[in-house]
Amino acid sequence: MDIAEQLQKIGQTAREEMSAADSADVLEKLRVHYLGKKGELTSILRGLKDLSREEKREVGGQANKLKTELDRIIEDRREELSSAISIDSSFDFTLPGRPRHYGHRHLVTIVMDQINGIFQRMGFEIADGPDIESDYYNFEALNFPPDHPARDEQDTFYVEGGSLLRTHTSGVQIREFEKRKPPVKIIAPGKVFRNEAVNARSYCVFHQVEGFYVDENVTFGDLKGVLEAFCYEFFQESVQLRFRPSFFPFTEPSAEVDVRCFLCNGKGCSLCKHEGWLEILGCGMIDPEVFKAVGYDSDKVTGYAFGIGVERPALLKHRVNDIRLLFENDIRFIKQFR
Ligand code: DAH
Repeated sequence: MDIAEQLQKIGQTAREEMSAADSADVLEKLRVHYLGKKGELTSILRGLKDLSREEKREVGGQANKLKTELDRIIEDRREELSSAISIDSSFDFTLPGRPRHYGHRHLVTIVMDQINGIFQRMGFEIADGPDIESDYYNFEALNFPPDHPARDEQDTFYVEGGSLLRTHTSGVQIREFEKRKPPVKIIAPGKVFRNEAVNARSYCVFHQVEGFYVDENVTFGDLKGVLEAFCYEFFQESVQLRFRPSFFPFTEPSAEVDVRCFLCNGKGCSLCKHEGWLEILGCGMIDPEVFKAVGYDSDKVTGYAFGIGVERPALLKHRVNDIRLLFENDIRFIKQFR
């Protein structure tokens, strides 16, 4: 057999064996057998030196071509083998699939996002403030007198070193006013904490969305318009609202907004303390004392502010009669609201 014939024969068997290789190990053995240092093809290439020039050119060309081809086959086969899924024979394909449990946002988060969305569409930017706050931002700059009852430990959770867990989101007003010049139109959603008796309407942690707008010629009418637009869009039914005069140290005049209780339709139930109405927010025109604390000129600008509780509107809208359900995290309750 001359060298050309040998090459042909090697090529044929190598191709067959390599394509049939069923594991990376077998493939590697074949590579060594044909293309390794002492491999069949390698020895032929080595033997070329004893041939005449013409033969060298002719046979050498063929041998190199075959080497390239076999390299290529090995490479391809190796890839095929590594991407193939090895099937374990003990695997039972007839078993039923395991159902996946998808998580979802909590009702409070869903409602907070809805509230944020409504105000964002009315042109409010979103800002954030810290849960652990100083007396200055939570009380002093908001015109709370030093002996105001809200500072009492019965209401406020104090933290070592004199800080406190914020009792409302209103402190974000001060933080943002310090950073910006009017016009300022912002909402600030977040957690607040109060050391209060826990019952169907109140919990020691809850959420608020603070809102405030400062510019030239902002009026109480603007405030009323924005809050009515919010309530009509959020509750999406013929909700009945009541603006009731109130007092907050940082607004003058101040009001609270009640909505007609959805659960009892105003007849009185445990959710509305048998009053037929539920308070969902406080609001008012920002007090000049607050502007003074942040260096705004109250002769030039006016502004309104409001603080909406998140849980109560959530309870009303979804006809849930106890705020504690929102915090106890019983999955059977939570998964009803996606
Ligand atoms: N911070 C008040 C509270 O937690 C709610 C509130 C009332 C916020 C009036 C305001 C406001 O911005 O103007 O009870």
